[in-house]
Amino acid sequence: MTAVPRFTDATFRVEADALDALFRDARSATRWSEREVPVDVIREVHELVRLAPSANNSSPLRLVVATSEHAREIIMEHASRGNRVKLDRAPLILVAASDPRYHEHLDVTAPGLPGLYEVLESRPDARAITAHDSAWLQIGFLILALRAAGLDVRPMAGFDKAGLSQALLADRPWHPELLLAVGYPAEDGDHGAGDRRGRPDWDAAAVEI
Ligand SMILES: Cc1cc2nc3c(=O)[nH]c(=O)nc-3n(C[C@H](O)[C@H](O)[C@H](O)COP(=O)(O)O)c2cc1C
Repeated sequence: MTAVPRFTDATFRVEADALDALFRDARSATRWSEREVPVDVIREVHELVRLAPSANNSSPLRLVVATSEHAREIIMEHASRGNRVKLDRAPLILVAASDPRYHEHLDVTAPGLPGLYEVLESRPDARAITAHDSAWLQIGFLILALRAAGLDVRPMAGFDKAGLSQALLADRPWHPELLLAVGYPAEDGDHGAGDRRGRPDWDAAAVEI
């Protein structure tokens, strides 16, 4: 197991416990408690996540909360074989999606900018890029917020995005980006993710120029 360096906690303005829960001890679990994850908890998580930054406040992250057996089955059918068993074990599955028609919400996200709707409407390619990029940034905040709510999360990109889009979201313009298998930590303490793999350190991943 790679030793994660412990920084001086005085550097941060959140408690060391919070840093442990959000970063140092948080893992991409594949096992969870059977305890139900109430949708109200996800709503509260969303109250934080919607404050995450995005390009020109486009706020393109959308969430599909798969509470029905029907939705779970459709997600399972479109997941890669290796991901199905993990998804099946998860008490709750979320689909994080991007909305390339984010400009339908300009009255909330950019009020008082006349003409912006028409400009964005005429640029579907640029909107698709903005929606994708900013949704992925917001997904990072989503994972942190779920962890802050005491949940373990396994992100999974191994699924048929086009197929899931058609089967689950045909009535919306949203693009599925990532599946999130979510649950409270397993009571026996085994998150099922094995030993933490290494990460590039400062020397490999940063440069002072
Ligand atoms: C964008 C993304 C895609 C991923 N896709 C999959 C996947 O399809 N299947 C899977 O089992 N895990 C997937 N993972 C989980 C990663 O393997 C895991 O987050 C990584 O190994 C770090 O594990 P740790 O958080 O336990 O240290 C994905 C993670 C991310 C962020």
